[in-house]
Amino acid sequence: MSARRRVGVLISGRGSNMKALIEAAAAKDYPAEIVLVVSNRADAAGVAIAAAAGIKTRTIPHKDFADRATFDAALDGALRAAGVEIVCLAGFMRLFTPAFVERWRGRMLNIHPSLLPSFPGLDPHGQALAAGVRFSGCTVHFVTPAMDSGPIIAQAAVPVHADDTGESLAARVLAAEHRLYPIALALVAEGRARMEGDRAVIAGCAAPAEALFNPVPAP
Ligand code: GRF
Repeated sequence: MSARRRVGVLISGRGSNMKALIEAAAAKDYPAEIVLVVSNRADAAGVAIAAAAGIKTRTIPHKDFADRATFDAALDGALRAAGVEIVCLAGFMRLFTPAFVERWRGRMLNIHPSLLPSFPGLDPHGQALAAGVRFSGCTVHFVTPAMDSGPIIAQAAVPVHADDTGESLAARVLAAEHRLYPIALALVAEGRARMEGDRAVIAGCAAPAEALFNPVPAP
């Protein structure tokens, strides 16, 4: 197999998607390796998880910087120093300067817990329940300057149940996130998913043949 792509993961908290990526990359035939985890918060639980897995970690508190540009420059420096080729945002709660986004254009991924372009931003599960949708889900997309809006690489649809709360829906979607992110990162690392203009182009992947229904039609 050709060399594995070097991946940096940016987190701000729990780090369960980061953990899913680390676990996927533990397989020898996975096309990427996680070489660095960076948190902008010293209290992010994910840092200890990464360190326990033997991954190099850095904490770069955004509060230590005068502005977004100097913080982004420090982040970029840490990623470059580690030889990072692909950046995965995994619950990273900071917006970037356009220069940082441009620097990582087509090489930076984000995961969002809704079927974008529906329900970007905060509280996507509350937004989904308020809208009464029968499916929600999660999306991995290339990062562009506008939040939660870049070219879509992969999505998983998750049913909304009549008795769902924000918490129960979040848990169902999160389980799908943990499966989806490693799939999407592998596609990018293998060069099978590329950003072309405002689209992600994917080579050689099957789509489901059938519609999903919720409620399920009577037999
Ligand atoms: C996930 O739901 C992710 O989609 C969103 O923030 C949450 C992060 O959770 N961007 P975790 O830190 O990966 O557990």
